[in-house]
Amino acid sequence: MDNTFYITTPIYYANDKLHIGHSYTTVAADAIARYKKLRGYDVKFLTGMDEHGRKVEGKAEEAGKTPQEYVDGIASWIKELWAAFNIDYDIFIRTTDEIHIKAVRKIFKKLYDQGDIYKGAYEGWYCTPCETFFTERQLVDGNCPDCGRPAEKIKEEAYFFRLSKYQERLSEHIRLHPDFISPRSRQNEMINNFIKPGLEDLCVSRTSFTWGIPVDFDPGHVVYVWIDALSNYITALGFMSEDDGLYKKYWPADVQLVGKEIVRFHTIIWPALLIALNEPLPKQVFGHGWLIIDGAKMSKSKGNVIDPHILIRRYGVDAIRYFLLREVAFGGDGNFTGEALLTRINADLANDLGNLLSRTVGMIEKYFNGRLELDHVPDGSAYGIAELVQETVTRVETAMDQFMFNDALAAIWTLIRRMNKYTDETRPWVLAKEPAQTGKLAEVMYTLAETLRVIAVLIEPFMPDTPEQIREQLNISGAELGEWESARQFGLLPKRISAAKGAAIFPRIDIKKELADLEAGKTVSEPQTTEKTDAYKEQPEAVKERGDADIADFAKIKLKVGLIEACEKVEGSDKLLKSRVSLGSETRQIISGIAKWYKPEDMLGRRVIVVTNLKPIKLKGVWSEGMLLAASDGAGNLNLVTVDGDIAEGSEVS
Ligand code: MSP
Repeated sequence: MDNTFYITTPIYYANDKLHIGHSYTTVAADAIARYKKLRGYDVKFLTGMDEHGRKVEGKAEEAGKTPQEYVDGIASWIKELWAAFNIDYDIFIRTTDEIHIKAVRKIFKKLYDQGDIYKGAYEGWYCTPCETFFTERQLVDGNCPDCGRPAEKIKEEAYFFRLSKYQERLSEHIRLHPDFISPRSRQNEMINNFIKPGLEDLCVSRTSFTWGIPVDFDPGHVVYVWIDALSNYITALGFMSEDDGLYKKYWPADVQLVGKEIVRFHTIIWPALLIALNEPLPKQVFGHGWLIIDGAKMSKSKGNVIDPHILIRRYGVDAIRYFLLREVAFGGDGNFTGEALLTRINADLANDLGNLLSRTVGMIEKYFNGRLELDHVPDGSAYGIAELVQETVTRVETAMDQFMFNDALAAIWTLIRRMNKYTDETRPWVLAKEPAQTGKLAEVMYTLAETLRVIAVLIEPFMPDTPEQIREQLNISGAELGEWESARQFGLLPKRISAAKGAAIFPRIDIKKELADLEAGKTVSEPQTTEKTDAYKEQPEAVKERGDADIADFAKIKLKVGLIEACEKVEGSDKLLKSRVSLGSETRQIISGIAKWYKPEDMLGRRVIVVTNLKPIKLKGVWSEGMLLAASDGAGNLNLVTVDGDIAEGSEVS
């Protein structure tokens, strides 16, 4: 049986930074790839960057850089973004990679040699932002029918690909493979709007700029950016290179995810090219909907983009991934609003999942001093829990087979909510009062802990950091307890279980306040150094050197007064202290590298300044949910920053 699974995202235009809408395709692909890996598939997950074309060339000019310098900058930014999103891709292709350039030149030459590409002259319209050719008839009031921006009239000598020749074979393929274009609505759209009216030969080279792959046998021409870009899916695997082992192993792709506006390139031009090359077609092209904001697709020109880095820093990567995958049915469009995001975080993550974990761990601590031992493993039949667990796994699998992430998550959350209800129904606080009920109480605790173990397995494809946090608090170790198949088997936790409360995995959010802040940091900020205000330009040089952060930058850092309630050394480290810090409404665990200057007992009762909106990180295996401010003089002295006088913990510092 073929156990390989090849999944691709589109490669992103390197003309600008990405917004949260772009992240959508990649987060979805990552969830599928992780799910397939958990199910034991040999997965290759490809993403990358589309770096050629007039649009990129123009952006580089504006920035005063060479195109290569410019795309290198964007590439590092995008790679950082994917790291922040926990995207576990296997290959990152750039269309400026040597392996890609060489293969595209060969592909173009092969098609030319066999008569599928011929020389002619193009006269028509071109939309540079969309990198698409249009006939006059297709324009809407002279503008691009896709993005509404003005199209440019061009008249150039050009090469053409005989797309029309493949009309019949393409129609036949679509007819015989009903899942090739998914969902079905997109298939109908392609057939009715593009194939039935008749395919025309496609212009596949440009001569009016140079930032592209030169045509092998006519270097005044560069390869049309879509031909260049689409080829990435096979060049990344070594197609037409000396080492095409990956190509042989993984192609054809099992699924190619694309946004709905580029389905047509992927289901008409791309398969026609592959047929011409005599190579197999991808098994499926899945066209997903858009993340809409204020009623329109996010786009820089509309000024409605949201910087994903800001969101991740503020709410944590798993919360954002959860929201993207839960809020929208994958095939359709979905609204992104700050309110919807924050409401989901509070309701689903803090109240449902966070609360289930914290009350389970809290009760094991309270009623059993953190450790309990049963004489038998409950079978989960009481209250139908084991049955619901089984059902949930099946629902998740069925949903994932159709990329219905929202259904998969809805099924998991039904289980989570059921377990909160189960707690209310079994009333452990009443059982705890009667010594005769200790056995029953232990069974309830076991059932909760075991179900949380299963939940940790099921959420992993969507929220890769959270399972570990759940396991840590419930002291679950052993890789087999995190395997997908283990989710079906209720009762795998040992008879002896222990738990220790950690920080809240999803702290509740003050929605009103956050909405105001989110609004302030709404747009993707340009690199700070390129956009100088007039006020900045008018400053004397000496003042300019002090920096150019403005008040909005400062407002992104959230500072609060914290009271140190407990402190100890971090095991295995002579530098780190672990403090429990009260912020009034919540308590955080914070790791600081200050053991050289402070003894744990000296920390108690201090009122310190805490940076509260940093992404939690693990230091020496321990979670840190913030940072304590300290002053150091460069001569080896360090003092914590504390507040003057008596002020309540949780007070804001600004
Ligand atoms: N470079 C081409 C793809 C070439 S693939 C051979 C391209 N790049 S893109 O950067 O504009 O878009 C990349 C992906 O992001 C596309 O799938 C696109 O649909 C997706 N999205 C961009 N904005 C989006 C939303 N607002 N919502 C959801 N997805 C969106 O197209």
